[in-house]
Amino acid sequence: MKKIVIANWKMNPETEAEAVKLAKAEDFKGVVITPPFVFLENIGEILKKAELGAQDVFIGSKNKKAYTGEVSPEMLKSLGVKYVIVGHSERRKNFKETDGIINKKVLAALKVGLKVILCVGEGKAQRAKGKEAAKRFVASQLKKDLRFPTNYKLFTTHLIVAYEPVWAISSNRNSKSDTPQDALEIIKFIKSILNSQFKIHNSKVLYGGSVSTKTIGGFLKYKEIDGFLVGGASLKVGEFRRIIKAVKI
Ligand code: PGA
Repeated sequence: MKKIVIANWKMNPETEAEAVKLAKAEDFKGVVITPPFVFLENIGEILKKAELGAQDVFIGSKNKKAYTGEVSPEMLKSLGVKYVIVGHSERRKNFKETDGIINKKVLAALKVGLKVILCVGEGKAQRAKGKEAAKRFVASQLKKDLRFPTNYKLFTTHLIVAYEPVWAISSNRNSKSDTPQDALEIIKFIKSILNSQFKIHNSKVLYGGSVSTKTIGGFLKYKEIDGFLVGGASLKVGEFRRIIKAVKI
C-alpha cells in the first residue's frame, strides 16, 4: 500500500506570503498539507497535486447556534479541504480538549465526508511506566475518541490514526523520535484494537514525532507503518522534499 505523508504546519509560517512560498516550493504530489485555517483558501488554490487538510474543526455540524471563532466542517469542505487533524496532543494539552470533545469532532467531520486524522499517543509519564501502560493509555483514547453508535462504515473508509507519542514530538524541547521497533509494536497494537473493537480490518496507522531525514529510514522498513505525520521537518523545503522522496522509494 502507498504510504501516506501529512504535513502539519501547526501555527506556521507567520505570514501569508511565506505560506505561499512554502506551498510553491514543491509539487507535493500525493501529500496532504495542513496549513493554518487563515491560509487554507490561498494554499488550496496553489496546491495542484497535493490534498488540503485542516488542523482542527468545530464539534458540530449544521449547528445554528452562535460560536464565535469556530470553523465548521461544512466551511472546511467548501474550501476544498479533504482531511482534518483531530485530537492532536497540543490541542489536548493546551486547549484542554477531552476525549469527549474529540469524539464529537471526529463524528462531525466524518458526517460531512472529511477524512479524519485522529492523533493518539501516550505522554512521558505513562511511558515511564512501560510500554504496556502506554498501550493501555492509547487503547483508552481510541475507545473514547471513536465512540460511535452504529455505523462503522466511515471508520473504514475515512479514518486514519496517527500514533504520536507526546514525548517524541519535537515542539517539546530535547525530544527525540521513538525507536522504529517500539513505534511498530504500538502501531500493531493500535491496529489490533481497531480490528477487534471497531471492525476496521484495513486500518491506516501513521507514525508522528520528530520525523526527519535522519529518522525516517528505520520506520520505512516496516510495512505496518502506513506513513507519517510530519511537523517541524515539513516547514524546511529541502528536508521535506527528501522525506517525500524517501517515502516513495
Ligand atoms: P514534529 O511534529 O514532527 O515536529 O515532531 C509532529 C506533530 O506534532 O504532528
